Amino acid sequence: MPTPSNVAPNDLSAFWMPFTANRQFKKSPRMFVAAKDMHYTTSDGRQVLDGTAGLWCVNAGHARPKIVEAIARQAAELDYAPAFQMGHPKAFELANRLVDLTPQGLDHVLFTNSGSESVETALKVALAYHKVRGEGSRTRLIGRERAYHGVNFGGISVGGIVTNRKMFGTLLTGVDHMPHTHNPAKNAFSRGLPEHGADLADELERIVTLHDASTIAAVIVEPVAGSTGVLIPPAGYLKRLRDITRKHGILLIFDEVITGYGRLGTPFGADYFGVTPDIMVTAKGLTNGVIPMGAVMVSSEIHDTFMQGPEHLIEFFHGYTYSGNPVASAAALATLETYKDEGLLTRGAELAKVWEDALHSLKGVPHVVDIRNIGLVGAIELEPIAGSPTKRAFSAFLKAYEQGLLVRTTGDIIALSPPLIISESQIGEIVSTLGGILKTLE
Ligand SMILES: Cc1ncc(COP(=O)(O)O)c(C=O)c1O
Repeated sequence: MPTPSNVAPNDLSAFWMPFTANRQFKKSPRMFVAAKDMHYTTSDGRQVLDGTAGLWCVNAGHARPKIVEAIARQAAELDYAPAFQMGHPKAFELANRLVDLTPQGLDHVLFTNSGSESVETALKVALAYHKVRGEGSRTRLIGRERAYHGVNFGGISVGGIVTNRKMFGTLLTGVDHMPHTHNPAKNAFSRGLPEHGADLADELERIVTLHDASTIAAVIVEPVAGSTGVLIPPAGYLKRLRDITRKHGILLIFDEVITGYGRLGTPFGADYFGVTPDIMVTAKGLTNGVIPMGAVMVSSEIHDTFMQGPEHLIEFFHGYTYSGNPVASAAALATLETYKDEGLLTRGAELAKVWEDALHSLKGVPHVVDIRNIGLVGAIELEPIAGSPTKRAFSAFLKAYEQGLLVRTTGDIIALSPPLIISESQIGEIVSTLGGILKTLE
């Protein structure tokens, strides 16, 4: 017998939606009921072109057969195995595949269930690593203004998006922030890496001078800051960060939750920039967004430092009930196979020029103050309406949805990151739809 409920099945009020204008949404809901390849189907039967790979995660496109089949098979064969003190083969196989794929030196993997958890895991590994090797004074974590590292306390502490931080008290102590690198005055309409701003990495030297290197555990950055509106690092900036962190014995963490798994036209951002961090944080594209999962890759130096003392003792007191969950592992393995079969981890590089030219064709369209691109990521920054920041871009988002295109907005920036299977004509479709909309906006 179904339990009586005081809520009708289609009542929208019970679900407090994440990062959503709930009252606006519930007055005029936007519902997806199906998806295939590059398109969503709405509840009123319309097709919507996915310009954002869901939330930067559906890199291989929707409902891909290998992934769907792997999940069904795994759920029937071994649905769950305890993550602590027990194992199952697929998690080990996946860790090996990931180690093969990541830059040399990142040879060990911790599994999580999201980008936010991957960030927390990375920060905790960094702190514990220094403690285990006898430098327990290294407790400071350095993030960056405008960074997004998920929503948990470590992530919002090192993160730099004011709205995500200001409601939640004092956060982690001992955190400092480098300046962000967004400088439209000098770099507007850059194609690829902006020319100006590599010297902003030297701000890390200032922070090291202020606190002393002996107090700093790690620096965390997104190679390309995604959620804050696609802030592309100036040429040479990440290499400088690598040099400075190495010089001072500070770990460098790349948060590759967005840049990982082909988004920039290389397997990882680390490959694109030729800079290898000590710890790499991933999620999203790992399972094509189908099953929640994250993975944190760490160097052998870090891993091996923990592997000491009596062998019956746990080396690192951290983990999740679902770390390396069998169904998630199967989904990730099938996702990596799909990427490999179709060359998707480098397809972004083949399309990058077409993508760049298409986006930059919107230069001169009303309200557009900057356009930027890298790999298969792009952003169109709009002049805010005076006194109503974010409203213009939100109107563009609503109109795009009505016209069959999914985009994402943050502030007055329209962010684009389509599945890596997108065709050239679909790139044209995104740009012509947006161009038409921008001309009609207030
Ligand atoms: C760079 C970065 N880190 C962390 C996260 C958080 O991931 P999740 O929403 O899976 O917790 C995101 C999500 O967009 C992200 O872009």
